[in-house]
Amino acid sequence: MTTEIERIVTANHPDRINFTEMYVTHDALRRDLERMAAAAAAGRTDSPQVREGWAVFTRQLQVHHTVEDAWLWPRLRERLSGRPDDLALLDAMEAEHAVIDPQLEAIDAALAAGSGDVAAGITELRAALLQHLSHEEVAALPLIQAVMTPKDWSGFRGAMARRQRLSGAAEWIPWITDDMTPADSRKWLRRMPPPLRLLNKLSWQARYRDRNLWSY
Ligand SMILES: [Fe+2]
Repeated sequence: MTTEIERIVTANHPDRINFTEMYVTHDALRRDLERMAAAAAAGRTDSPQVREGWAVFTRQLQVHHTVEDAWLWPRLRERLSGRPDDLALLDAMEAEHAVIDPQLEAIDAALAAGSGDVAAGITELRAALLQHLSHEEVAALPLIQAVMTPKDWSGFRGAMARRQRLSGAAEWIPWITDDMTPADSRKWLRRMPPPLRLLNKLSWQARYRDRNLWSY
């Protein structure tokens, strides 16, 4: 599997869209999914830090999917009129998102009830989300690269930033770098606006670390 940092390097070309933030976000989602599956397998989803880790994961997943649904797929749809096969791929992206929301709700309900259904719910979510993320990477990103421009992509990143606001960025940035090596983390952080990088260094990173998410 390609590492995040290789993706950053190979994606840097002025005429091509750089998908780094999409990849690192997907990888962070996969990482937390495995952490939740491990906690469920150990019967430790009652740990407050696991609950908090889960809340961060669901919040970041929902922001990611909401902005894709509200901004990215509609604009891509406009570019693809008269191309039924490509439009069918967008239908599939939306349908895959729609499967995931009720799965998250079912897991939240099982967590709230303290029922034994959490592990089964995570198994279902894991299957659906892993399939969706790789489907998006393998099929949708190349299509985006073919019909959208780096300027379009800046628009998407702007929509994501507006949705996250500063409070969301305060969580998203250290969440992304959570399991990166220090060298990879430094390299990726250089892509962030300097004021956010400074805030992360002075406060966000330590605050995130002190939450000790996923421990049990
Ligand atoms: Fe995505």
